[in-house]
Amino acid sequence: MPRQSKGGVINCDLGMSKPFDIELERLTGRPSYSQVFGGVAAGQRGTFFLETFGCQMNDHDSEKVAGLLLSRGYQQVQTPEAASLILYNTCSIREKAAQKVFSRLGEYREKQSEGKVIGVLGCVAQQEGEDIFKRAPWVSLVCGSASYRKLPEMLAQLEAGNQRVTGLDTDTDETFETEVTRRDNPWRAYLTIIEGCDKACSYCVVPFTRGPERSRASDSILREVRQLAVLGYSEVQLLGQTVNSYADPTPRRMRFSELLQAVADVQGIRRVRFTTSHPSDFTPDIVEAIERQPKICDHVHLPVQSGSTRVLRAMQRTYSREEYVEKIAMMRRANRPIAITTDIIVGFPGETESDFEETLSLLDEVRYDSLFSFKYSPRPNTPSLAMSDSISEEEKSRRLAVLQDRQREIQAAKNAELAGHTFEVLVSGKSRRENQWSGYTTSHRMINFASQERELLGTYVQVRVTGAGPNSLAGEHAV
Ligand code: 5AD
Ligand code: SF4
Repeated sequence: MPRQSKGGVINCDLGMSKPFDIELERLTGRPSYSQVFGGVAAGQRGTFFLETFGCQMNDHDSEKVAGLLLSRGYQQVQTPEAASLILYNTCSIREKAAQKVFSRLGEYREKQSEGKVIGVLGCVAQQEGEDIFKRAPWVSLVCGSASYRKLPEMLAQLEAGNQRVTGLDTDTDETFETEVTRRDNPWRAYLTIIEGCDKACSYCVVPFTRGPERSRASDSILREVRQLAVLGYSEVQLLGQTVNSYADPTPRRMRFSELLQAVADVQGIRRVRFTTSHPSDFTPDIVEAIERQPKICDHVHLPVQSGSTRVLRAMQRTYSREEYVEKIAMMRRANRPIAITTDIIVGFPGETESDFEETLSLLDEVRYDSLFSFKYSPRPNTPSLAMSDSISEEEKSRRLAVLQDRQREIQAAKNAELAGHTFEVLVSGKSRRENQWSGYTTSHRMINFASQERELLGTYVQVRVTGAGPNSLAGEHAV
């Protein structure tokens, strides 16, 4: 699931302090990296600053890159000024995101003359390749996500005097696994189970930037989940661009729904999330797993992109509106309510007013719990780049605003219906205001609540909803 863009309709923080700016080791009692990798002193190889743009996959890749570098004797620092190595993990899903990377790189131009090494990782690295050296000659490392395993080797080459190094292969069967991952959140652990994408949506750069689909072995996933549980993580979020297309490469051939069940069965795990699901691979056994096992969260992110079958065909989305609506109906028949969220693109080439109306009517029909919405952005190499009938920026902005207004009304009404209900919340934030906390329900609703307890972070509590806005709920600790 992407993080919400400005002007969007979800993830309102209501002035909460940053949830995870606490000393993780103190909180979790977990060993430090220097203890784990006794031989290598922290900072022996220098210091690195790593900034991440983009989706949860990128966030998690950065956690793994950080773990890899820490295990090789680098020390992570919080400012580029303090670092000898500055790394950007980048996003190119929309043009704006890619532009931001180059403007940020521009800010670091003089840093190179101070002897710092500057590297570009992620989707912009993969997409632009060696052209980055032309546009920003002060960069000396360019590495796409399929090549992260080679990072230590690439850094060693730079240390040995090479001026420029690249890792740009995508034709690999490998998934990126590390001995250690430096996770940002002390309770919820991300875990990539499938990398790349084999779908070919006509607007999307991901198949080019992240390469073909590769699934991680089920036994290796389960081994990591068991380790996470021992370390005190209680929530696991399985990640993939099309997470439910998971195809176990081991002889066990575990189905995605079986994997969900097996992860939930690990002792100590209380919540299992998964994102992002593709409608075409969203099969009844996934809903049955949610019905059977309450630890599997009752939230499905199922991007529709458009409510018009004509536009869906042009997008090469492999399903019609009717087929999509049937998947929604399947979830609505489940024996417990399932929250449904989605992604929508407005202003795809050729999208008429009546196509757009169909998207609005889909919103009314499904009544999503929340959505991420985007203006279509033409991307390099994608088939839709050559399509005619582009929609003006002004019209795209208008449609986006209309869509977001409609969704805001739906969310406000849906959230209001929750008043008086009590939910279990994993507490992940503490406000600067006294006695105010925040966290998420299993259906991934954000709730701010009052409690007189002194320490709640990382615990599960019952919260009664006392008020609601379109973006979050307010409540009180029910004891
Ligand atoms: N333009 C606008 N939005 C896009 N997305 C992907 N590619 C584009 C694009 N070229 C959106 C889709 C996807 C989400 C991650 O980003 O809605 O689900
Ligand atoms: Fe992009 Fe489509 Fe793959 Fe999602 S399913 S990553 S939108 S190509």
